[in-house]
Formats: sequence, structure tokens, C-alpha cells
Amino acid sequence: MSEVRSRKKKTPVRSSLEGSIDPGSEPKSPSPSVKSSWFSSKEPTKGTRNFSLWNIWVATTILKVLLFDTYHSTDFDVHRNWLAITNRLPLKSWYIEATSQWTLDYPPFFAYFEWALSQFVPPRVVEDGCLDLVEKGQYGWATVVFQRSTVIITEIFLFAVLQTYINLSENKTLTFIIAGSLVLSPGLLIVDHMHFQYNGMLFGILCCVILCARHKKHYWMAFWFAVLLCFKHIFLYLAPAVFVYLLRAEVLDVTQKNIIKFVKWQNLFKLGAIVIAVFAVAFGPFIYYDVMPQLLSRLFPFSRGLTHAYWAPNIWALYSFVDKILVIVLQWPYINGLLSRLIHVPSREVIAAKIASAGNTGTKGLVQDVAFIILPNITPRVCFLLTLFYDVLSVLPVLLNPTFKRFIGALTLNAYASFLFGWHVHEKAVMLIIFPFTFLITEKRLLNCFMIIAGAGYVSLFPLLPSQNIVKALYTFIWFVIYTVSFNEVSSHKTKHERVFMFDRVALIYTLGLIPMVYFVFLLDIFKSKYVILQKFEFVGLMIYSVYCGVGVIGSWFGLSWLYFFEDSLWDSDTDE
Ligand SMILES: *[C@@H]1O[C@H](CO)[C@@H](O)[C@H](O)[C@H]1NC(C)=O
Repeated sequence: MSEVRSRKKKTPVRSSLEGSIDPGSEPKSPSPSVKSSWFSSKEPTKGTRNFSLWNIWVATTILKVLLFDTYHSTDFDVHRNWLAITNRLPLKSWYIEATSQWTLDYPPFFAYFEWALSQFVPPRVVEDGCLDLVEKGQYGWATVVFQRSTVIITEIFLFAVLQTYINLSENKTLTFIIAGSLVLSPGLLIVDHMHFQYNGMLFGILCCVILCARHKKHYWMAFWFAVLLCFKHIFLYLAPAVFVYLLRAEVLDVTQKNIIKFVKWQNLFKLGAIVIAVFAVAFGPFIYYDVMPQLLSRLFPFSRGLTHAYWAPNIWALYSFVDKILVIVLQWPYINGLLSRLIHVPSREVIAAKIASAGNTGTKGLVQDVAFIILPNITPRVCFLLTLFYDVLSVLPVLLNPTFKRFIGALTLNAYASFLFGWHVHEKAVMLIIFPFTFLITEKRLLNCFMIIAGAGYVSLFPLLPSQNIVKALYTFIWFVIYTVSFNEVSSHKTKHERVFMFDRVALIYTLGLIPMVYFVFLLDIFKSKYVILQKFEFVGLMIYSVYCGVGVIGSWFGLSWLYFFEDSLWDSDTDE
């Protein structure tokens, strides 16, 4: 068996080398002989192959342990502080405590989770300062080892869910590759195992929701989604798709003409009871202690700016960029004079005054909270309405035809809408798009869009880590090559349509362009310390990242939306094969 396993691991690498010679030439349907030689005919007999994620777990755990000592962000101290809060204080003060600025701002299940983890802190780690309630954590190696290990251990949940997904599927080669791409996701490596968070476990729960949808276990689906929301409320962005899918699949009976019988009340109450029960377990104690107002104000702080410290690659990044360009262009006397004859543009004096009053000098203002100089300012209301509009648009087809594919498509588009138009979006939220999207890669026509969002999305996470860290770039590159080729091999052409030639080429050029982009910003960072003039452009690197990746995210969104709304045949299937 070990021989089979080792061959299985090597195969994609070898094929990736061959594929990279001419990666753009795949529009012809893949030749069946090549396909079988890579993925099935080498098998002694069908069914003896072990589609196990266990090897991957062992291999990546070694890598993750080797990465223990790399950079971790302030999120590490955030989670350490939460361990301390939940361990040292009674439940009723968890959401009131404010010694450190890293207050507890995740929903209750996550707080219980931190409490549970804190029960396992060994005495040595306690001595190290892991459970101290202080303004700024004073911790050493022991705490790092402990907390990093908890991330690896809780991530096993993701592996278990995806292994179940493989075990229950018909086409195991395909689902094995989908599952492998998820557990090996560079996003998880960068955000969880270096930057520090617990996304592996949380996305495990999301995959659980998807798995339940796949096998029509709708009550379990409601249960797991409610659990997920009580762990991290960012998943609320996916709620429209889940809500509409459950409504249509379980509650509404469209064959009925009678308005009363149109709703299956019994199912509605069952679903409602499940969700309410989960929320009661999560929030009940805090309602009992009467600390709900504090809890809610922690979960939904409305005082933040439009963009996060570093712009997430979305519409607002491009919007800010256009504003910056306009400021520069309109300060040229000639252009300003010319344009002011045609349309209304602010005069140079007005622009200068605005820049001064916004404290928006140099390029620094680029990534701080943005006050737009030329373009109109954006309010939370605008963000909300735009997100809502695209959410509604994407769930309408689910209402008409609630297939599994439609549901996953809507889920992905919901994530896109919130990421592109949302208020104060974190760049990490891009994983919310990539995870559901991966389950759609059974169809070749979606592959281009997926590779763009995966490339742009994962690359946009690079600035979370220091620029000297090249593991992130190397790992992402290898992941990208392996999975582009693997997906290309196993996904199928269901529809007769040829793929659009131009889109293929542009997608390829765009993704290849990520490499020089990353390299250029890397050089910029290196030379910054040498040449003072470059320090003036401190944030230009980040801006290049957000704008270049933003173009990719928006492009892939267009591509997916187009196929979602105009290619019905892609979405009618109820299975993942
Ligand atoms: C998947 O199947 C394998 C072998 O058939 C079995 O050993 C394993 O326990 C199963 N895993 C899950 C999570 O169902």
C-alpha cells in the first residue's frame, strides 16, 4: 500500500512539470489515454486504492511544526488573551473584561472553545505567562508551542469532515483532489499556522454544512450552520444562500396551490427549533447574566472604517486607487484646466485644501482610513445595499431550482458580494470564497475562474507576513501548479460549448503576472532600507498587491456570475460528479 501511496503523491508533481510546458493549451478536451495513465489505469484494481488524507496530514504536520518558530502576528496574543480571560474570569465578565485591547469579540462558542483549550494548558506553559491577564502578553517558547499545537490538533476536524466527504462520494479521485486542495490550502498555512488563527476548524464546520447539503441532510445542515455562526459571525455573510436553500428544499411545497399548505409548517418548526436551540445554548448563559448588550457591541463594532489597515483586494481598493490617480492627474494645471471646461472638477486649490484637511499627505493615507478627495465618500449604507442586492440576485436561482450545485454557487457568490462590497473587509475573508468554490470544480468551465480567485486570493494574503518570509510564496506556487494540473485532469466537460478563447488567455496571463508582481514588491521592500527615497513610497507595495489582486477577484467574480446566470446546464446536477 505504501507504494501506491507514494506514487499517488508523486503523480501530480510529475504531471505538473509536463503541464507547465504549455499550460495554456488545454482547451482541447483532455485525451482519455493520458488521463487514465495518470489517474486510474495504474491502479491494480479499482477500489483497492486508499484515498486517505492521512499521509497529507502527517506530511503537513511536520511542515507546520517546522514553522512554529516563524513570525506570528498580534492575533497570537489575541488568542492567548482569550485563553486567559475565559480561564481566569467567571463567564459573566468574559465580554466585559478590557485589560488588554484584544478584547473577546467572537461569539460564545468560540469563547467556550477557548475555555476548553485553557483546561489543557500544562503547568509549564502557565508559568510561561500563557494565562496572565495583562495588557500585553509576556510569553515565551512554551506558550508558542502550546498554542500552535492547538491549531494543528483542532484542524483535524477539517481532515475528518473531508475524509467523510471522500468516503461517501462516487468519484473518489475527484473528491480526493478537491479535499486535498482544501486541507493543503496555502490560506490555512499562511493565516493559521503562521499568522495565527483557527480557520482550519471553522472551515471544517463549513465543509460539514456543505457535506450535509450534498447528502440532503437538511436538519443537520441547519444545525451545523447555526453552530458555525455561534463560532464566528463572519459566516453570516453566507446565510442568505443557506436560508433560501433550506426554505425551498424543506419548507416550501411548490406543488401546492393552497396558500396554507404551501408552507410545510411542521418542517419549518423543526428547523426553527434546531436553530433556536443552538443559539440558546450559545447565548443562554449571557442572557441569564444580562450581558447581552456588551456582547453584541463587541461582536458588531460599528466604528470602523471602510477599508482595513491594508486594503482587501476588492471594489473599494480599486475605488481608492482611482481616487488617488485622479488627485495626481487633476493637480496638473493643464489637465485640470482642460477638464474643467468639459465637466465639473474641483480646482487645484480645492484639492490641495482637501488633502491637507484629511491629513492625507504622501502615500501614507493610501492604506490608512481613506477619505476620498475627488470621488464621493462611501457610507456603510451603500456597502450594505450593494451586498444585499447581489445576495438577493444570487439566491433567486436557488429558489427556482434548489440543486446542490446551485446552492454551492449561491454560497460562493454570497461570499463574493460581501468581500467585494462589504464594509471593513479583511483580506483573510477571501477564503470564504475559495472554500465553497472548490466544491464546484467538477466542471472544467469553472476552472479558469477558480484558478484566478485562488491565485489572486492567496497571493493577497502575503502581506500578512513579513516580506522576508519566502515559504509563503514557494508553498503557494507549488500548490497552485499541482492543483491547476490535477483539476484540469479530473474535471469534466459537461457542456458542448467551447470555452471562450480570450478569457482563457487573459486568465493565464493574469495568473502568470502574479509572479513578477510579487517579486517586484519583494525587491521594493528590500531596497527600502537602502534608499531613503523609497521610504516615501512605503505603502506602494501594499497598494500594488490590493489593486492587482483586486482586478483578479473582480474578474473571477464576473466569470462565475456569467456562468451562474447564463449557463443553466452547469447547475442542474445534484451530485458532485
Ligand atoms: C473512510 O474510509 C476508510 C477506508 O474505507 C476508513 O478507514 C476511514 O475510517 C473512513 N473515514 C471516515 C472519516 O469516514
